[in-house]
This record gives sequence, C-alpha cells and structure tokens, in this order.
Amino acid sequence: MKQNLYSRRNFLKTATLGASGILLPLAGRLTWAAGESRFTRALDIPPLLEGEMDKDGVLNFDLLLRYGSRDFLEERQTPTMGINGDYLGPVIRLRTNDRVRMNVRNTLAEASTLHWHGVHLPARMDGGPHQVIAAGDSWHPEFQVRQPASTLWYHSHMLHETGRQVYSGLAGLIYVEDEHADSLDLPSEYGVDDIPLVLQDRAFNADGSFFYDSSPGPGMRGMMGDVMLINGVAFPQLRVRHRRTRFRILNGSNARIYNLEFSDRRRFLQIASDGGLLRRRVPLRRLRLAPGERAEIVVVFDWDDDVYLRDVSVPGNGMGAGGLGDIMHFDGSGVAGALVGPPPVKLAENIPSWKPRDAARRRRFVLGGGRRPMGPRALTINGKYMDMNRIDETVRVGDIEAWEVINRSPMAHPFHVHDVQFRVHARNGVTPPPSERSLKDTVLVQPGESVLLMMQFRDYSDPDSPYMYHCHILEHEDAGMMGQFVVTS
Ligand code: C2O
Ligand code: CU
Ligand code: CU
Repeated sequence: MKQNLYSRRNFLKTATLGASGILLPLAGRLTWAAGESRFTRALDIPPLLEGEMDKDGVLNFDLLLRYGSRDFLEERQTPTMGINGDYLGPVIRLRTNDRVRMNVRNTLAEASTLHWHGVHLPARMDGGPHQVIAAGDSWHPEFQVRQPASTLWYHSHMLHETGRQVYSGLAGLIYVEDEHADSLDLPSEYGVDDIPLVLQDRAFNADGSFFYDSSPGPGMRGMMGDVMLINGVAFPQLRVRHRRTRFRILNGSNARIYNLEFSDRRRFLQIASDGGLLRRRVPLRRLRLAPGERAEIVVVFDWDDDVYLRDVSVPGNGMGAGGLGDIMHFDGSGVAGALVGPPPVKLAENIPSWKPRDAARRRRFVLGGGRRPMGPRALTINGKYMDMNRIDETVRVGDIEAWEVINRSPMAHPFHVHDVQFRVHARNGVTPPPSERSLKDTVLVQPGESVLLMMQFRDYSDPDSPYMYHCHILEHEDAGMMGQFVVTS
C-alpha cells in the first residue's frame, strides 16, 4: 500500500541533493539535518475568517477545497490540498449563539467532506462520511453555535481517505468565543499574543512531494513523519512580542502523540482543553497531546529568551515512537511591554459534572482485541470494522450516558465522539489529571486502560443520520476503527 500521494514517484533527483545544506536524501526520502539551522522560517499565522452576515442574520463562511503547492523544503514544491489557500485553511471565528452557514465548494478532482470536529450540531450538518461533497459540488450546512468558548477544528472525513486528505492539508481551526471568556482578560489579540499552533509531522519524497503510506504500517503506528510542520511551516521560529502569550495548540497529526515541553523546562499554564476552558488553570512543564486533541496554554517570555518547544518521547506512548526533539524556536528579543497579569485561577463556570449514577445507559467500547493483536484484525471497535450501512448504537436524545472505552490492543488510541463534549470521569477507576477535568471530545486510551466517559446527547435527534465515534489515528480510522450512532427522539 506504499504510495506517493499523487501517484507520481520520482526518486531520481536523489543524487543531486547533496548540495543542499539542510536537506538530506535518505533512502528515497528527504529529511532535515538536526541542529539550529532548521529554525530559519517565520511561523505563519493563518488568515482569520469572520464570516459575512446575510439579511437573515446568518453568518456565512465561504470555504473552497482546492489543490495547491508549497515550498515546505527550501525551493522544492510540494503538491498540497488546502481550504481557501494552498495548505490548511483559515481560522473560522464564531461566537456562542451565532447562526452559521458554511458554503463549502469542492474544486478537487475527488470527493471529500468537511467535518466540524468538536461542534455540537445536527448529524446532517456534521460533515462525516455520509455528507460527501462530490468533485465540483457544493455543500451548505447550517447550525447554531450552542457551546462555550473553545478551540475546535475542521477537517476532511472522507471514508478511507481521511488520512490522505488531512495529510495533504484539508484541515483548519475553529475558534468559539463567548462573553465569559471575554471577561477573563486572557491574551486574545489574534496572531500577536493569541497564537494558533497546528502541529503536523510530515515525510517527504526526494522530489519534494509528501510521502504518505495509508496502511497502518509496521507496528500499526499509523503515518508518522520526521519533519515538523507548524501552521504549514517546517520547524518555524516565532519572534515573541508580548511577555505573556497564549498558544492554542492542535495536534493535527495523523498518528503522532506529542509530549511537549520547553527546552529550559519552564512552567506554563494550561487554561483550556478540547471543549473549552478548564475549571482552574493548571501549571505544567509538559503537555501530552494525542491526534485530535487541543490545549490552550499561556507562557511567559523574556527579552533574552532563546528557547525551543520540544517533543520528547515517553516510553509506552505510541508504540515507542521517538520524540521529534526541538520543533519550534522562540526568540524573545522583540518582547516589549510590561508583564500583564496571569490568567485567573478560576476559569470555566458551569462545567457539567455528570455522575455514573445519572446515566440512562452504560455502553462499552473495546478497542482492538482479537487473537492477532499485531495483525490488521486489531483495528476494530467491539470486534467490528466500520460499516456505513450498520448503526452500531442508538441513543435517546437528552440522555446522559456512560461510555466505557477499554483498550485491549498493544498501542494507545485517541477515542473521539462526534456531537458531544464529554467529561473523563475516570481512568482505570481513578480521577483523571487536572488537564482532563474539563469538557473534551477526544481522549487517549493507553494499552490495558479503561476510561469512563460521561456525556449528554442534547438538542438534536435524527434517526436517519448517524454520528461517528472512532480512533483519531487517521490510518486506524480509515482502516475501519470507527462506528456509528444515531440519536433518536
Ligand atoms: Cu476529527 Cu470524526 O473527527
Ligand atoms: Cu469529530
Ligand atoms: Cu487507533
């Protein structure tokens, strides 16, 4: 199943690449020499899209799926996919209660979808594998924002093609803002002291094209690369301008789990996770982020800072995939102004605290299993592969449910549920760490672990349109590690 993304193999140029100071040809691939010389390109800040209000009071967003190309690696061009641009898409900014209409036009030569990850909305608007946008077609989902301030995202969810399309660039961020978050005085000047970081590891062929292998691969790790792209820039650097800066970090990678820390091991504050603000800020030196997860952190910088964000490997995570090392450089020489106050200790209010005894139903989801833990059969949920024609679970609208996710496979899987933001009630019967005590939509489940999730299926029911739950390692999802549920009235 090894394939070049656009079926265009070209390893012939390998011999001539030695002249490049940074790029090294290695077995038909390009890789980047280690060292400081990597961090020469400025971090890109994606454009902000705030929509246009129509006469009915609906905010319209125009999103165009298209092909492009980018010189991620010096002057070599990489064929890409993007939304309104060459690679990735704009940051879509919404506010709670906004009524929204997305005008998605697919100019690709292949079918795709656009899924609003983390958004609570009707299943028909969800952009999952049932809402296919054929090549040349448009799709106009509408919904109202009914959730608190949070950092969400959107990406392709095409059956069996999600991994390749997201890897090519079909993804972007959604910011939801609300009055409560406004009142907290968090750093919020977009691109200045409130900075998105979309983390994606990539591998490249010798001709500069992305190398992509859709098979879960040896060890079933999924597709991992050795070049770090952040907002579509390889190993970027940022000249920090404000002493206290907020970063909204998305692990938009197909398979890699990051363990992030600063090179001087400085402390920072986590203020939000997937579904919005934490109840209280959490001081951390290291942040783990699995594919699909988000975290917002606030970091203090000084004018003499010369510090790296680094990905350290942690034994037992992601089947022994080594960390990428330094992935981004922060240069403090442009820091100006006084140190503004830290984020308040107490952040979110009204985070629901559903208890297992409140649950109308308890369901179990067993990841992997089977007799051949290392074979393809291991990529199942409750022993089943994804089937578009099979509804796996039926939920009653309004119900609180307890979902127990049990990992009987030898590797960690990030489990994601559409439509809802859940609470992680327990990991192996124990209260989860403070970083996970808020609303989430994706949770990493380690081998042998059992995670108890509490959630409520509010507002929307539709017996004919399912939502998905799945592993967010995209090669696992594409290989069938996904199931469907409907919410009925
Ligand atoms: Cu990020 Cu089913 O999605
Ligand atoms: Cu999703
Ligand atoms: Cu998985």
